[in-house]
Amino acid sequence: MRKATITGWGSYLPPNVVTNKELEKIVDTTDQWIQKRTGIKKRRIADEDTSTSDLALEASYKALEKANLDPEELDLIIVSTVTPDMVFPATACIIQEKIGANKAAAFDLEAGCSGFVYGLSVGAQFIETGLYNNVLVIGAESLSKITDWDDRNTCVLFGDGAGAAVLQPTEKGGFLSFDLGSDGSGADALYMEAGGSLNPASLETVKNKMHTIRMEGTPVFKFAVKTMKRASLDVLKKAGLTIDDLDLLIPHQANTRIIKSARRKLKLTEEQIYVNLPEVGNTSSASVAIALAEAKEKSMIKNGDRLVMVAFGAGLTWAATVIEWNENI
Ligand code: UT7
Repeated sequence: MRKATITGWGSYLPPNVVTNKELEKIVDTTDQWIQKRTGIKKRRIADEDTSTSDLALEASYKALEKANLDPEELDLIIVSTVTPDMVFPATACIIQEKIGANKAAAFDLEAGCSGFVYGLSVGAQFIETGLYNNVLVIGAESLSKITDWDDRNTCVLFGDGAGAAVLQPTEKGGFLSFDLGSDGSGADALYMEAGGSLNPASLETVKNKMHTIRMEGTPVFKFAVKTMKRASLDVLKKAGLTIDDLDLLIPHQANTRIIKSARRKLKLTEEQIYVNLPEVGNTSSASVAIALAEAKEKSMIKNGDRLVMVAFGAGLTWAATVIEWNENI
């Protein structure tokens, strides 16, 4: 069976930087607390007129350019997001039109912060089965639009941004394995309550701030620490590899304490894990996509390298993949 590989990558962060010091003026917090408990120093926040599809578009142009692909050649666009432009139509369709991908199918996928890696797994399968040749997978978020700016437990954590990857067939290397999972018993640890069929928008839901992120940090933290290690080892095993075969781990960027714990448990060096959390905060499903593009731009990834991308998030969900990097198909 043919394999899928990543031939294009790109990321985009909106220009407006919000520092921890600036958040000190909004909620009862300190730069020191945020850095010590999360590792975050700053984050990017999109302006009022910028939607998730706008961020996604910028990342997509870069990814298509790297892959030397015209939008008309795309067969499929998958967008992973928890902050779509609208509940429907799919943000992927809005991007399909904006980018001029005239013959592409398009749909959104929602798996919390694990969504981009879920998206890679779906896109890779369309290629492996031979159905499609050119797939664009996007992780994009405007989390600032669903943040409760009065809630210090959450508002210091999140940021906006987008990342994109072009998937194409390859004879050599590419995605070697995926490990996806979910534990819906943790659905009440991270959610946005209203705006769906359970709690349709009403004056009451707006008044009670039910259109913003709610999170129980501790259970998510525990789940993350456990899952990052287990999923990374499982996905390597599925590929017939061990941790000794790994060149670079690209984890979901949520908390440097979670990332450090994974590094310790997996016995990796600092150079083997890509971290941009201090600069961008937690961008949910955009996080791994942005980190991948940045690591590539910093020449941290070369052909033949084995990478693990691993994420966890609302659902609760997790997702991991091993790719043997080969961008020259
Ligand atoms: O992308 C996936 C989704 N999210 C995550 O991965 C998040 C996972 N969880 C975490 O990263 C951590 O649990 C947090 C960073 C959210 C919280 O850190 P923590 O060390 O678990 O703190 P905590 O929730 O146990 O709170 C400790 C104290 C509390 O005060 P009391 O009750 O001990 O007096 C909080 O009220 O820290 C307080 N606190 C803050 N203080 C200053 C919570 N947020 C803040 C804040 N500034 N921003």
